[in-house]
Amino acid sequence: MKYIFGNWKENHTMNDVLSYIKEFKKQKLPLDVCYGLAVPYLYLQKMNQKLSKKCKIGVQNVSFSEKGEFTGEISAKMLTDFSCDFSLVGHSERRQKFKETNEEINKKIEMCFNNGIMPILCVGETKEEKEEGKTKKVLKTQLTKCLKDINLSKQFMVAYEPVWAIGTGLTPTPKEIEDNIAYIKKVLEENIKKVGVCVLYGGSVNPQNAKELLNGKSVDGALVGGASLNAKKFIDIGKNLANVRR
Ligand code: 13P
Repeated sequence: MKYIFGNWKENHTMNDVLSYIKEFKKQKLPLDVCYGLAVPYLYLQKMNQKLSKKCKIGVQNVSFSEKGEFTGEISAKMLTDFSCDFSLVGHSERRQKFKETNEEINKKIEMCFNNGIMPILCVGETKEEKEEGKTKKVLKTQLTKCLKDINLSKQFMVAYEPVWAIGTGLTPTPKEIEDNIAYIKKVLEENIKKVGVCVLYGGSVNPQNAKELLNGKSVDGALVGGASLNAKKFIDIGKNLANVRR
């Protein structure tokens, strides 16, 4: 099974969402691919009503607090009113543009677990960190700090998203992706004592490069930004990986 998850970011209006649903429903889905979409909060309910049979529906962020004086925030508990399957946490755009820290991300993961929402923890190095040979050090720090002291008996995923590959058209080589994801799994097993976590790759994935980039034996799928905005393109990423078609 491969996991192809999309992240719409701050894109689409209700009209776009309705067309997306129509287009998604027209497509034949490959049997051995699990699709998921992280949508803006406002479209969670509509997407769930219309597509939850074909696709996991989740969100892109969640509050680190349970409730209270945090104007503009949405708590994990509120999300349970709309049956939300998962939430991204610690996306690099949140870390960089909203100055989210590993400690806040740690609390967000805990909130997700407490409310039955699967967290997808995003980690990845910047261009400078890569050039300085610090990729593995960065990954290990992010993983250990974000997962510190959390009871990890429930399911979660990790997305390896090198910051320099997001929205740039640049990607690591398939070997770099495999090596870094294998390393993430090693840290999870050795430092966090957690085996069997699915790890996705994210950064400039499209239907053309998916098969090559996601070929590594440690790579469980992709987290797709730009190419997830079009339903056909998004589904094609999974089709191009899969052998069995429905
Ligand atoms: P792109 O696929 O547009 O590079 O974005 C990746 C991403 O940030 C997914 O979370």
